[in-house]
Formats: sequence, C-alpha cells, structure tokens
Amino acid sequence: MTEAKIIDGKAYAAQLRRSIATQVDHLQDDHRITPGLAVVLMGEDPASQIYVRNKAKQTVETGMKSFEHRLPADTDEDVLLTLVRGLNDNPEVHGILVQLPLPPQIRADAVIDTIDPAKDVDGFHVVNSGRLATGGAATALVPCTPQGCLLMIKDQIGDLTGKRAMVLGRSNIVGKPVAALLLGEHCTVTIAHSRTLDLAGECRRADILVAAVGRPKMVKGDWIKEGATVIDVGINRIEIDDGEGGTKNKLVGDVDFEAACEVAGAITPVPGGVGPMTIACLLRNTVIAACRQNGIEVPEP
Ligand code: GUN
Repeated sequence: MTEAKIIDGKAYAAQLRRSIATQVDHLQDDHRITPGLAVVLMGEDPASQIYVRNKAKQTVETGMKSFEHRLPADTDEDVLLTLVRGLNDNPEVHGILVQLPLPPQIRADAVIDTIDPAKDVDGFHVVNSGRLATGGAATALVPCTPQGCLLMIKDQIGDLTGKRAMVLGRSNIVGKPVAALLLGEHCTVTIAHSRTLDLAGECRRADILVAAVGRPKMVKGDWIKEGATVIDVGINRIEIDDGEGGTKNKLVGDVDFEAACEVAGAITPVPGGVGPMTIACLLRNTVIAACRQNGIEVPEP
C-alpha cells in the first residue's frame, strides 16, 4: 500500500510569486515598465470579495500596480462595457479580469468579448481559447487554473509524453483548457462528464486524473490507478457535524482525499492545492501580457 505524496500548492505558488517579483524588478529596471492588473467586481458576493482582495494584495506584493473597480450589483451592462473599453485603452493596465459570476442582467459573453485579447489575463476570450485549442499555447494567454494544474503535474512527473490523462469535467474555464494543455504535452487525453459511461473504469486507466466537476468527494479511492497523480480542482463547501450537536462548514474537493491517499502516487489537497496556484498564474499572465504588449521577450517561470 502506498501513501501518496501531498502536493503543496501553497509552496509552489509562493515560489512562483518570488520568481514573478524578480521578473517585475527586471521590467522596471531595464524597461521602466510596471505591469498593471485591473480587477472589476460587481456586487457583494462574499466569495468573490475574498478572491478580489487576495488578487489585489498579491499583485501589490509582487511589485505590480493593482487597479480595483467595484460596481453595484444593479449596474447596467453598458456601464460595465464602457469601463472595460476604458481599461483596454489605458496603457498602465496590462491585464483585465472581470470577476465571475456576474449579476443576471449582464451577459458574461459580451463582457469577455469586449476585453482586449492581449489584456485577457483570464484567457477566456475566444481568441485565446482558440489559440490554445489550435496548439498555440505559446502565443495564447492560458487560463490560470489549468496553467497551475499543468505546472504541478509536470513538476511531479517530468515528461508527460504518452501518459494517459483523464479530465473530469468539460467547462470552458478548467476542463477543456486543461485537456488542451495535456494534449500539447503529448498525453492521451480523455474528457469525461456527467453522461460518460463507466466513469470509474475510465478513471482507473489514468496516470493523471484532473477532477473539475464541483461534486464533493465524487472520485472514490477505487476509481484511482495505483501511483496516479491526482489534481483536485473542486472547491465545495459542505456542512459537517461539529461534534456539539450542530453543524459547521468544511471545504472539500471533488476527490475523496483520505481514500485517494492510499492509492495515488501524488495528490493535491483542498484547500492548499490548486487554489493558491490560480492567483499566482494570474500574476504570471499579467507579466506575460505586459511583456508582449511592449515587444519584450517573456521570461521563463
Ligand atoms: N471567479 C472565480 N474564479 C474566477 C477566475 O479565475 N476568473 C474570473 N474572472 N472569475 C472567477
């Protein structure tokens, strides 16, 4: 029986942020450029407020400029689109992120379409997703969570050529871009979803399993191949017994962590796995965007 290595996403993210801070120093010293990230938040969603606060804090900590725009939840779409166009035209802003989810009167597609693809640090614009899908990860801005997953997988395994990868979930934000990145690394990739037959059997064949379905503890221990690398993207809030007759909230992933630890070779925990890497990759995308907008070679991570 193996005991899986726990992949420390917090430590990876801290290391990535240190290298980003060094790159920002060089951009300032050699080119007089300070990368700038603008984040737009509509409404009062508590989880979004925490994300936005963390993004702004880490942006400043790595030496970049942070621009924060908060709009009331009932703001008209026109007002948001005008703000985004202004950020597109602002030379101090190299990256733009509009925090999702958006209120119902706003069409997320219209907002994403309006962001200049060169500043689309989420990598959600069709220009960037199209480049990634057609094998152009080197010229795309790649979505942050998938990028974080790939960095950790490559660090764990090394060359991924010929590995069987299973991606659970087909979202545009995680599932599809993660699959495209793994394909780019010459994996044999399967994308599974709610209609997949024999999900457990499909998962058991995988050397790399990326779970991004948003279903608490869905992936059981016996779905995992011995020694596989398991990346858990799920962030699910569940209620558990607090031992005093009440309940309390707990964050769990899409994988049954304790059971998976007995089988997997390596696994990301929740929290402390993929999550911290997402913001670190957002900062990296901002540096990449700033370099490309100024014709400067992009430094390696
Ligand atoms: N909401 C939760 N995660 C994200 C993200 O990565 N980007 C955006 N724009 N909104 C989010």
